[in-house]
Amino acid sequence: MTSQYSVQPLRLAVIGAGARSSIAQHAVRSGEGVVVAVADPSPASRERARETFGDAVRLFPGHRELVDSGEPIDAAFVTSPDHTHAEIAVDLLRAGIAVYLEKPLAITLDDADAILAAAAESGSRLYVGHNMRHMSVVRQMREIIQRGDIGEVKAVWCRHFVGNGGDYYFKDWHAERAKSNGLLLQKGAHDIDIIHWLAGGYSTLVTGMGDLAVYGEVTDRRDNSDRTMPDWFSLNAWPPLSQTELNPIIDVEDISMVTMRLDNGVLASYQQCHFTPDYWRNYTVIGTEGRLENFGDSDGAVVRVWNKRTTYDPQGDAEYRVRGDEGGHNDADRLTVAEFIDFVRDGAPTETSAVAARNAVATAVAATESLRDGSQPRLVPAVDDRVALRL
Ligand SMILES: NC(=O)c1ccc[n+]([C@@H]2O[C@H](COP(=O)([O-])OP(=O)(O)OC[C@H]3O[C@@H](n4cnc5c(N)ncnc54)[C@H](O)[C@@H]3O)[C@@H](O)[C@H]2O)c1
Repeated sequence: MTSQYSVQPLRLAVIGAGARSSIAQHAVRSGEGVVVAVADPSPASRERARETFGDAVRLFPGHRELVDSGEPIDAAFVTSPDHTHAEIAVDLLRAGIAVYLEKPLAITLDDADAILAAAAESGSRLYVGHNMRHMSVVRQMREIIQRGDIGEVKAVWCRHFVGNGGDYYFKDWHAERAKSNGLLLQKGAHDIDIIHWLAGGYSTLVTGMGDLAVYGEVTDRRDNSDRTMPDWFSLNAWPPLSQTELNPIIDVEDISMVTMRLDNGVLASYQQCHFTPDYWRNYTVIGTEGRLENFGDSDGAVVRVWNKRTTYDPQGDAEYRVRGDEGGHNDADRLTVAEFIDFVRDGAPTETSAVAARNAVATAVAATESLRDGSQPRLVPAVDDRVALRL
């Protein structure tokens, strides 16, 4: 069957023209789409958008003005701050526009469920940009698990060293609970989703612990809303307490941990620290017949598997070299956008999942509540099956 989109390049909009809006360029470079409209309340961001997407692009101060303008749009990349995702996504879906919504889906569970409901009721296509599902290291770990090389998965542990944390998360809106909820959600949604994917289940019970251990002590502050992260990013900003120009409000944690019990009995943990010198993720997955672990997470990294009994053997019984992801997560971004385009045009199946994105939010929100409430355990509410079945 030929879809309404099968011949022409898609007419695309970008909502939120900040650092991440460059993801739309993958659609443009592939020839699959053209950015015809950008909505952003910031004049500086709109100006940048014109430079990026060309003089012909129509600029709007908000997504509602864009929808009301009648400009025909097939699909929109929503790359605005997390607390704006729900309102924007719901309005666009109801207007019949397919949505690429950046992770995390939303900053509250009610908002996440409202987005899923809007997609189910409108029939418009919702895709959540969990690009880590297209990272080579993740896909290789998943293939090893699915081949049965480590038996049945019983535990997944992830340590996340967010070495660029000061620059990425403590100089703008990310540092404010009102705009991100917390970094266990904002950053951790990626890995909670991957933990669920590798384990083949969703969290039902969580306990969190965390603190603002370092960045709260930095007194040099600046409102950076007139610029974006690449303007201030510098590897010379080290050690973390020498950082300057942090966001005026910092009420999120810079170190946090969550333990999770999944619906299939798997136990998992995720630990995130924003003041390490290095920036990468280390997973280990333990099954009934072995264990895997990644060393590095981009091109040239390795995944090692141990499945013979031993004491200490750093080499493992098998080693797999990670190919791809040479440009950070650039390769994953390209593949993710290509998947989105196929989904918009033909409803093609996707590796990412809006329901899984919602369950990552549900888990992270519950864990954040727990860590701010004396580490009391929290149940994770399940998705409404009637909604999930319609997505
Ligand atoms: N998947 C990934 O790997 C990845 C990487 C980076 C960022 N992200 C996500 O992308 C989103 C944007 O992050 P960023 O780093 O580009 O932020 P940013 O602060 O650089 O840019 C946000 C832009 O949105 C604009 N904006 C604010 N309110 C708006 C509204 N109501 N409507 C339209 N635009 C609005 C701002 O003016 C700014 O131009 C976040 O949700 C973030 O989690 C995902």
